[in-house]
Amino acid sequence: MTTPHHPEDFLSSLRLRSAQEEGIFWVDDQRLGVFEPEAARRVSAANWHRFVLHDRLVDMVRRRRSPEVRWSRIRATWLTRLHALATAEQHALLIRRMERVLDARAGQDTDLTLLMQDLALRSLLPVALGGLTAGEAEVVRRDLEMKLARLVSPVPGGVLHQVRHMAVQVRAGLVVRRVLRQRARGRRGREPDLADPFVDLLPELGMDRALDVVTTVLTAIGGPPGTALASLLYEFVRHPEWQRRLEAELGAVDPVEFRTTPTRAAPVTHRFVKEVLRMWSPPLLLVRRSTLGFDLGGTRLEPGQWYLLSPHLIHRDERVWERPDVFDPDRFLPGAPHGPADRASYVPFGWAPKKCVGANLAIVQLMALCHLLCTRYRLTVDRPEAVTMALRFAPVPENFRGRLTLR
Ligand code: HEM
Repeated sequence: MTTPHHPEDFLSSLRLRSAQEEGIFWVDDQRLGVFEPEAARRVSAANWHRFVLHDRLVDMVRRRRSPEVRWSRIRATWLTRLHALATAEQHALLIRRMERVLDARAGQDTDLTLLMQDLALRSLLPVALGGLTAGEAEVVRRDLEMKLARLVSPVPGGVLHQVRHMAVQVRAGLVVRRVLRQRARGRRGREPDLADPFVDLLPELGMDRALDVVTTVLTAIGGPPGTALASLLYEFVRHPEWQRRLEAELGAVDPVEFRTTPTRAAPVTHRFVKEVLRMWSPPLLLVRRSTLGFDLGGTRLEPGQWYLLSPHLIHRDERVWERPDVFDPDRFLPGAPHGPADRASYVPFGWAPKKCVGANLAIVQLMALCHLLCTRYRLTVDRPEAVTMALRFAPVPENFRGRLTLR
């Protein structure tokens, strides 16, 4: 099978075949689709169990292997830092940053999808890499915006665009290296961000691996959070009855409470966010290389072969979900007959042990956007009937023009 040019056609062909072939099949002669929930969980658990971060440059130059650092250690470091950042004060700062971005554009006609991507990037950058000068932040953001534009665009950019992006990428890498180096030498203040713990690990990790680690987080905040915010806005516009339910709930809630007990603080809003992430989980496909051999029913995946995973296809599987194409947050009510069958069938943040480390923060941010839409801004969409959801690397609303005005 060849990959159809259009990502949407490719995805619908995968959905069709997945239904016919019980979720596991060769997509082409190189890639195995693992879209059956339990198999996806098992493959992920085994494949990443001993994942190690190597220093590629040092390996090459010294012609030897650098000391092993296990990925689980990097993740534990991120999770400890994120736990420390999950305070009322830090979440109030995140919400304040979101307000600043939206206030600055209040009343302006704008592409709402791009506005949501900007919102995610500007509000999350200080969590990933804080204390940047305006110029440094601009370079890092530009790099992430160009990466995202390439992933979202239906047509590939020309050679000139690629060369420009490579130049920006190199400059962004230099910014990250400089920040880490200066923090290590005491020439720049330490920050409560996800990069900072790796300053102390520099002697062991080396600069290249530290850069890889920081780049992983930057790439992670540069893609899914913005498209998820845009998808939330899309469903908000399409469902006035849910707007009313959210407004009724959120008028009296302090959004800082979302960080500890989202379901208790705002149960309707939490269900709404969960359903947005079920319908429109980014990224649509994850491409992985197998490190071990797996027997998956009648199919064998050998070490070194590629496989595809997809939260989206699992969330739209009729064997797993009742009426999967219908937006209905109440399916997340406890005991709802059309709810998730088990934990393996709802995976918007991927699979352990590579699961998204920012999942809690992401939920807080999505709920905070609901709060802002119901209390601080009024959303106007120019032609609601023209807005469509395009499936690129992630779901992205198109023809989504309008404005947010302050209430
Ligand atoms: C709605 C927002 C978000 C969504 C839908 C999302 C989704 C995902 C998914 C599907 C993965 C891949 C998991 C896998 O490979 O199995 C991932 C990885 C990751 N995410 Fe998120 N994410 C979001 C927000 C965030 C935020 C806010 C942060 C950071 C503060 C973050 C940090 C990361 C990191 C560092 C990884 C890589 C984990 C690893 O390689 O071990 N994400 N995310």
